[in-house]
Amino acid sequence: MDVWSWLILAAIAVVLIFSFVIMFGAPYLPTLKARTPEALDLLDLKKGQVLLELGSGDGRILREAARRGIKAVGWELNPLLVLYAKAINWRYRRQVTVKWGNYWRHSWPQADGIYVFLLNPYMAKLDKKITQEIRGKVKVVSFAFQIPGKKPLKELNGLMLYEYHQKPGR
Ligand SMILES: C[S@@+](CC[C@H](N)C(=O)[O-])C[C@H]1O[C@@H](n2cnc3c(N)ncnc32)[C@H](O)[C@@H]1O
Repeated sequence: MDVWSWLILAAIAVVLIFSFVIMFGAPYLPTLKARTPEALDLLDLKKGQVLLELGSGDGRILREAARRGIKAVGWELNPLLVLYAKAINWRYRRQVTVKWGNYWRHSWPQADGIYVFLLNPYMAKLDKKITQEIRGKVKVVSFAFQIPGKKPLKELNGLMLYEYHQKPGR
């Protein structure tokens, strides 16, 4: 095969990798740069606390969290984005973990805050999964899409802050 054939094959592989994700969740669309610090401001996590990002994309939210001294864990299904996010967060590698996998199928690490940018059809499933997974109190910021049946505590430029409390004894 010549170089062009290899390049075309590589391009098809990239398109397929970005497309197969839509069977499991939202396609890749990064949070706007201006919203990234606002999302962290809204979560208001303290140094040493843990942020979980579901579908961590290119890792920009993880990086902003790490800059603030927050430990950040991202789940991402697209292996190319996992590699990219690991690379750009290399200097924060002690604070940032990017896991390759489907966040619906795994248990989540205990976190103080969760960030999501999903799609409307997944918001009810997210609400259920948060209720199953969390212990204690967790703040959740969702960009663009509301959690059905829950009123945001605060809203800022399309970012919505929610709080979940796990009742003792569960
Ligand atoms: C709308 S993008 C948001 C990216 C990033 N959170 C941001 O705000 O910049 C959604 C991301 O979730 C990933 N994703 C979708 N479904 C997923 C799943 N079930 N498990 C892990 N990652 C998923 C996609 O590959 C994509 O990178």
